[in-house]
Amino acid sequence: MAEEMIITPWEVKGKIDYDKLIKEFGTKHITEDLLNRIKKHTKELHYMLRRKIFFSHRDLEWILDEYEKGNKFFLYTGRGPSGNTTLGHMIPWIFTKWLQDKFDVELYFQITEDEKSLVKNLSLEETTKIAYENILDVIAMGFDPNKTHIFLDTEYIKTLYPLAIKIAKHITFSTVKAVFGFDNSTNIGLSFFPSVQIAPCFLPSVMKKKNIPCLIPASIDQDDYWRPARDVAPKLGFYKPAQIHNKLLVSLQGPTSKMSSSDPNSAIYTTDTPQVVKEKIVKYAYSGGQSTVAEHRKKGGNPDVDVSYQWLTFFEEDDKRLNQIKEDYKSGKLLTGELKLILVEKINAFLKDHQKRREKAKDVIDKFMLRD
Ligand code: TYM
Repeated sequence: MAEEMIITPWEVKGKIDYDKLIKEFGTKHITEDLLNRIKKHTKELHYMLRRKIFFSHRDLEWILDEYEKGNKFFLYTGRGPSGNTTLGHMIPWIFTKWLQDKFDVELYFQITEDEKSLVKNLSLEETTKIAYENILDVIAMGFDPNKTHIFLDTEYIKTLYPLAIKIAKHITFSTVKAVFGFDNSTNIGLSFFPSVQIAPCFLPSVMKKKNIPCLIPASIDQDDYWRPARDVAPKLGFYKPAQIHNKLLVSLQGPTSKMSSSDPNSAIYTTDTPQVVKEKIVKYAYSGGQSTVAEHRKKGGNPDVDVSYQWLTFFEEDDKRLNQIKEDYKSGKLLTGELKLILVEKINAFLKDHQKRREKAKDVIDKFMLRD
């Protein structure tokens, strides 16, 4: 029997049916019409849009309506520091950087060291330490220092708190229980926390004393926060935050699980050396190939379940090259071991540049941080 699909900010299990999520969460597909509308402004489409890695949205049409009227949106996204940054976390950030460049907009980036210490077996001191490591990765993405504002909840709480309180007043325990699955054993920090992650949706509107549209690029796993956020918005006189959702990069070990910062064999970290990247992919990447070379040559591999191929769809920007790899794998011309090495090369080239920028980020952290 297929494993039940669970997708919350803290747990992802089973094979994810993205169409079902669109129905369950009440979001919309990104249609060709909408892609064409985006393209009018951006000239080209990001490969994550072309490939439907960003597959769902709420109110993106409205974001463009307002933008066309001269009412620019801001971007809001974030990271919950529970371990080293993985390649999965970078998916929404790669796209967020593209949106910032193309639309020339501000980005607010929240770090939820509070959330992760409430959810995981980690102290607040530990998550705060991890936060600074993660921030280096965020800065290394190349966001515009003049338009990017990163904040840690426990440092910036003085500004967030009045808003979080106003939000919390409109969200009942029965709502968070239903949305997040809290029960009597859930610590009380978590029942309040959603209002802290919702607050940045409205913060720039408060700071600039006028309503500013908010667009959140993030994976669909964060959607539990945005449904209550959208219910509360009109009650407080704000615009409802809009979303654009990406699919999850699967675990190295197979398409039925999310990669996790806490399982080193399921994920590749931004700090992994080329040798470690190679070892992990060669040893763990789930294969869609046949069990012998002879059989593989005859029957070919299955790119739909092969993790190396799936990861290439997230990282190989060139459509033609990607398609050639797919065809060669399907026909049996390309063996699993060879496909793995293509991925190793791609990821190592990507990480080489990232790690250089990550080192430089240490000198410019203060330029990006919002502090009370
Ligand atoms: P966190 O740290 O779990 O994840 C950071 C971002 O990465 C996305 N994500 C993934 N995307 C693709 N493939 C994966 N395997 C994968 N795993 C995680 C997440 O959707 C997220 O966008 N509570 C949040 C932090 C946060 C936040 C926000 C995120 C605060 N405010 C606003 C998005 C938008 C968290 O713990 O994310």
